Amino acid sequence: MPILYDEKTKQFHLQAGSSSYLFEIHKDAYLAHRYYGGRLSQPIIAQPLITVARSFSPNPDSSDDNFSLDTLPQEYPVYGTSDFRLPALEAKFEDGSTLIELRYQRHRIFPGKPALRGLPATYIENESEATTLEVDLEDALKGLVVTLCYTAFTNHSVIARSAFVSNQGSERIMLKRVHSAAMDLPDADYDLIHLPGAHVRERELVRMPLDRSVHQLESRRGASSHQQNPFLALVRKNTTEEFGEAIGVSLVYSGNFQMTADVDQYDSARVLAGINPFDFEWALEPGEGFQTPEALFVYTKEGLGGLSREFHRLFRTRLVRGKFRDKLRPVLINNWEATYFQFDQKTLLELGKSAKELGVELFVLDDGWFGHRNDDRSSLGDWSVDLQKLPDGLGFLANSITDQGLQFGIWVEPEMISPDSDLYRAHPDWCLHVPFRNQSLSRHQLVLDFSRDEVCDAILHQLEKLLQSAPIRYVKWDMNRHISEAGSVGWPAHRQREVAHRYMLGLYRLLDQLTAMFPEVLFESCSGGGGRFDPGMLYYMPQVWTSDNTDAISRLSIQFGTSLVYPVITMGSHVSAVPNHQVGRVTSIETRGFVAMMGNLGYELDVRKLSEEERGMVQSQINLYHEIRHIVLFGDLYRLRQPSNKRDTAWMYVSENREEAFVTYVKILAEANPPLDRLRLQGLDEKQQYQVTLMGDEVNRYIPIATKDMEISGSELMNFGLLIPYLHGDFLACAWSLKAK
Ligand code: DGJ
Repeated sequence: MPILYDEKTKQFHLQAGSSSYLFEIHKDAYLAHRYYGGRLSQPIIAQPLITVARSFSPNPDSSDDNFSLDTLPQEYPVYGTSDFRLPALEAKFEDGSTLIELRYQRHRIFPGKPALRGLPATYIENESEATTLEVDLEDALKGLVVTLCYTAFTNHSVIARSAFVSNQGSERIMLKRVHSAAMDLPDADYDLIHLPGAHVRERELVRMPLDRSVHQLESRRGASSHQQNPFLALVRKNTTEEFGEAIGVSLVYSGNFQMTADVDQYDSARVLAGINPFDFEWALEPGEGFQTPEALFVYTKEGLGGLSREFHRLFRTRLVRGKFRDKLRPVLINNWEATYFQFDQKTLLELGKSAKELGVELFVLDDGWFGHRNDDRSSLGDWSVDLQKLPDGLGFLANSITDQGLQFGIWVEPEMISPDSDLYRAHPDWCLHVPFRNQSLSRHQLVLDFSRDEVCDAILHQLEKLLQSAPIRYVKWDMNRHISEAGSVGWPAHRQREVAHRYMLGLYRLLDQLTAMFPEVLFESCSGGGGRFDPGMLYYMPQVWTSDNTDAISRLSIQFGTSLVYPVITMGSHVSAVPNHQVGRVTSIETRGFVAMMGNLGYELDVRKLSEEERGMVQSQINLYHEIRHIVLFGDLYRLRQPSNKRDTAWMYVSENREEAFVTYVKILAEANPPLDRLRLQGLDEKQQYQVTLMGDEVNRYIPIATKDMEISGSELMNFGLLIPYLHGDFLACAWSLKAK
């Protein structure tokens, strides 16, 4: 069993992959954190927990001046009783008091991993894959019981944590803050890494020293957002991409979240992760319970690369579900940047035909096919076809595209409602709002009140009809605004601050039902690009449109930042037209192709307008992608060079058996008289000989420092490196394929 309990010392030892996590029951009452790091070979830590008297730190136990919750490393700190650091749990009782005194009651250790009620979470397929520990803590005066749940995965260095709070007393308890997990690290000698961003500039990797203050990463926008991601990492100062200690925390949630690193006066770092307490409250009536989302902790000594690969393996195999989890993904064409709202049946069929000739496998009809939507001012909520644009109906279009040899997919934005829609005219109170207050529009739309079952059910019914009306094999689920005026007429006054979380519960329920009804449909989530690229969404939809920014050079940093946590197979990545619509940059079709091949390859441009030469290149790109996509989508990712140097970027994928690899190099800005450069590869088999083939048109045109086709040992490739050809100019790319001999 990878979770041990030692009766004598009262220590729990959670063994997950190559990591160990230990805590103990201190003074028969408090859960004290002892260790998180590399796997310990002994069941317990022999040396005792030391507590020392500190001035200004109150002592809850009058017989022990050395003991204070203010200095105790804790597993789930609460508010009000001698700990002045940020708590994991805050509540208000009917007498107005806010103190909570949690004491250990009992625990259970059992094989497997329980599902989380109503929330997405990692899962197992076989009980031997994980062991779970549940610890009950109780505030006896008020009957408040907190069950901390810890799952240690056997073959992943991952601990999954969550909390379940139940009211076993006789009065209403108002929860003010319920984090999923807390962890007190003994020192703060770390850098903090996080992924802030903006629309079309998502997940820019930021690394900063963890100083003695509160570092708060959060979203208050009703979605995990472009602006932050529910992820943080604490890495040692000397941790690099390849080496060093790193702890990563990822929250399986798509709504308002908060992740905090709070460094105290003794340089202890408290990490908290959970639903954002901002504008949150939850009324827990006697007999009721509240389930928090799941927080995932990964520990590695193998640098940022190792951290990412742990998350990738877990998310790819034990978060994403359904028949597409282990399937190669189709190369798609999306008509958005080709036509925007201006299309008709003929144009779409021409696009489909032209794309099919290039080797594309799936046609995606984007926004503008329903209601009377010729711009973004109307029709959200009316999910029936616009017969002005598609006079023969959706079924005819989908069947014609299918007859062309392509699968058919469609765009929807089911969480939204346009004031100019039949749905709004019939149900003006179905949007999130506060009566008699102004309702702010964003992209001319309002947000449907998914905290209410009847609203979710009505939308589910519309989507069910839509997906049954035509051979639809793919759905792009978009969300193009954030939530303001988060009130609901479906809930009483004392539950108004529950609305943002209830919205997420409604959305998750709808997605659960819809994906179960249509297991043959590949779902892609999107929120103005990557505004909801989070593990919660991945549980229902196995891929995400990474960003509305399709410029190849911007994509280098967006995709690099995203890859810190999320596997490549989840990232939609398209070749679009130049000058690029978001930044105006011109890059070659070759560079655009190599960058888009970093994820789920697609095309988002008017392929009818490509020159013959470009068509030939696109055909070769798709052929190449067909040959290598199993390595890209299911292999291990190694980031070789970071785009932050503005000079170049390189990454590689290695198949699980290490017999195949694919390496891509992008020159960002050219330098005069540059140094002769080599790329040291990673993840290969030292002893293996590889046939290395260099690809790229620019390589043919300019001085070939490197040889185009050669047999090279894994050892040479990883130690001496691979000669990089001289690429003359900005924004050029080349790639190598490696095959074991
Ligand atoms: C935002 C998405 O990210 C785009 O790809 C496109 O689908 C538009 N919405 C359509 O409105």
